[in-house]
Amino acid sequence: MSILNSSLMLALNKENLKTPPVWYMRQAGRYMKEYRDIRKKFKNFLDMCKNPDVCCELALQPINAFDLDAAILFSDILTIPDAFGLEVSFIENQGPVFNMPIDNPNQIKNLKRFDPQKLSYVYKAVKNIRNVLSPDIPLIGFSGSPWTLAAYSIEGRSSKDFKKTLAFLEAHEKESHMFLDILTNACFEYLKEQVKAGVNVIQIFDSWANLLNENMLHSYSHQYLKSLIGRLKEDLITSKIPIILFSRNPKCEIENLIETKADCISLYWNMNDFDLDIINGKVAIQGNLNPEVLLQSREIIKQETYKILDKFKDFNGYIFNLGHGITPNIDPNNIKYLTDIIREY
Ligand code: CP3
Repeated sequence: MSILNSSLMLALNKENLKTPPVWYMRQAGRYMKEYRDIRKKFKNFLDMCKNPDVCCELALQPINAFDLDAAILFSDILTIPDAFGLEVSFIENQGPVFNMPIDNPNQIKNLKRFDPQKLSYVYKAVKNIRNVLSPDIPLIGFSGSPWTLAAYSIEGRSSKDFKKTLAFLEAHEKESHMFLDILTNACFEYLKEQVKAGVNVIQIFDSWANLLNENMLHSYSHQYLKSLIGRLKEDLITSKIPIILFSRNPKCEIENLIETKADCISLYWNMNDFDLDIINGKVAIQGNLNPEVLLQSREIIKQETYKILDKFKDFNGYIFNLGHGITPNIDPNNIKYLTDIIREY
C-alpha cells in the first residue's frame, strides 16, 4: 500500500469502491475526551495551533481511536488573517474574535504583503504528522476560501448574519475585490507550503458561502475559488494534489461548484436536489450525512447511513463524511459505530 493507492486517493480519482473511504470534518475536537484533556492546558485556542507537537498529537487522536482513512492537519482557517496582523483569538463561548478587524478600506490598501513564513508553525505541524502517520494514510491540508476569510476579517467575529461584512461589500466594492485578490494569493502560497511540507490532499472550506445570493456568490466567492484552484493546478509543486471543495449551503447549482475545477465536492447535508447521474464521472463527491443524525438512536444512525451508502453505491468516487463538522455534543461511541457500519455495509 502507498498513498497513491489508498482508498481516499482512488475515490478522489473517481473510482467506484465497494467500501468508501471515511473521515470526518472536525474529527479532532471537543467531542473527544483526549482532545479536551490537552485543550485545557491552553487559554487561547490559537496558541495551541501554534504548537506543532501538540497539533501532531491532536491530528492523530481520531486516527488512533477510529482507524479512519485520512488524517486532517490540526490547525484552523483563521491562521491566515492572524498572519496578516488582524490578531485573532478565541474567546470562550464566543468563538473567534479579531482585535484588529478590517473596518475601513484604507486598512486593505495598507496591508503588508503576506509572508507565508509567518505560518511556519503550520508547516512544522504537517511535517510532524506526516512523520508519524502510517505511510498509506493520506494527510489532508486545508485553508479557508478567500471569501470566508474576508468575511471573518471584516466582521471581526462569528455572527449569524454578517451585517457589517455585507454593508462593507456594498460600500467598498473595489477594495473588497482587492482584499479577495490578496487573500487568494495568500491561500495559494499557504497551501503550496503545506504541500511542500507533506500534505497529500487539499480541502478548501467555503464555510460562509451561505451568506451570499447567487450573483454575489459568483462574484465574491466562486471567481476567487476558480483563480485559487487554477493557480494550484498550474504550479508544478501543487498540480498533482487533489482538491476538495466544501461549500456550506450555497445558493447555487452543484454544476457551479464543479466549474471551480475542484476534484471533489464536499456536500452540505441538505444538498440533495440534483441528479447524480449527470455528474457521475465528472467529479468525486464527499459527505452529505447530517451530523445531527449522530445525536439519534443507533437504529436511526444505521438507517440514515444506509440511505447515503445506497444513494452513492454506483457513483464513481464517493468519500464518506458528514455534511458539516462533528459537533462537541456528539458521543464518540457513535463515531465508532458509524465507522463500523460503513465498513460492514
Ligand atoms: O479535525 C479537524 O477538522 C481539526 C482541524 C480544524 C479546526 N477548524 C479545529 C478547530 C479545521 C479543518 C477547522 C476549520 C474551520 N475553522 C472552519 C471550516 C469548517 C467549518 O466548520 O465550516 C471554520 C469556519 C473555522 C473557524 C472556527 N474555528 C470557529 C468559528 C471556531 C469556534 C467555533 C467552534 O466550533 O468552537 C473555531 C475553533 C476550532 N477550530 C476548534 C477546533 C477543534 C474548537 C476550539 C476549542 O477547542 O475551543
